[in-house]
Amino acid sequence: MDEAELTHLLRNDRYPRSATYSARRAVDAAMGPNPLWQAEALTSLMSLRPGQRVLDLGCGTALSSIFLAREFGVEVWATDLWIQPDENLRRITEAGLDDRVHPIHAEAHALPYADNFFDAAISIGAYHYFGTDDLYLGYLTRLLKPGAHLAISQPGPVEDYESFPPAHLTPYWKWDFCAWHSPQWWHHHWTKTGLVTVEVADQLAHGWQDWLQWNDACDRYRGAPDQEEAQMLRADEGRTLGLTRVIATRNPA
Ligand SMILES: C[S@@+](CC[C@H](N)C(=O)[O-])C[C@H]1O[C@@H](n2cnc3c(N)ncnc32)[C@H](O)[C@@H]1O
Repeated sequence: MDEAELTHLLRNDRYPRSATYSARRAVDAAMGPNPLWQAEALTSLMSLRPGQRVLDLGCGTALSSIFLAREFGVEVWATDLWIQPDENLRRITEAGLDDRVHPIHAEAHALPYADNFFDAAISIGAYHYFGTDDLYLGYLTRLLKPGAHLAISQPGPVEDYESFPPAHLTPYWKWDFCAWHSPQWWHHHWTKTGLVTVEVADQLAHGWQDWLQWNDACDRYRGAPDQEEAQMLRADEGRTLGLTRVIATRNPA
């Protein structure tokens, strides 16, 4: 498949900023639902200004970090555990952003940053790996200035059900999907700490369709159409699964 065909498969009018990025580079670096689209959905509700310091936590291949620096002129600490910083530095340098995006290898509980350092933090497809612990928000918010935004997006159900998974998803279910939670769950999880004020807790409009469109394009590009995750999303048709977005601001101490 050539790049023009891939670009066509990924055409999505909801994300005009993301459309200016190479589809091939994005798919080659894919680790989950499209991080560019999710970054665009998060930042559409945030106010980022040039020069601000932004933490991209669990940035993976740093696509969202590049997006933040290029679209908003912010300085980004592209922080990840599984992806080595030299790999991300190559990608960042290719994008001409090595003066503004800093690749950092760190575990989410041992972040090498000063208290009150960041003006904002985002986490795409990653926060559920470490942030479901009741005490994690208290650790992370120390690194944010009062009033700073914390914005996350990842897969999640429409609501947290008593009995899970629903029958139609049983063939596809993996045990660690237990960390996927609804907007209401995250709203409660964060609000009960008193550390942040949740401004938005919702599912991305058309999130499951975006997720499926992305997976279909990735699967076809790799010559292996209709992989299991795409089958699951098609079977579900958004009844249960989507992309959960939560945006909060750090309260004054
Ligand atoms: C599914 S990938 C998503 C990556 C990227 N944000 C994206 O959307 O393409 C999840 C990322 O979370 C990161 N991650 C998981 N557990 C982590 C931890 N304990 N500390 C730091 N990063 C972690 C992994 O390194 C991985 O890159």
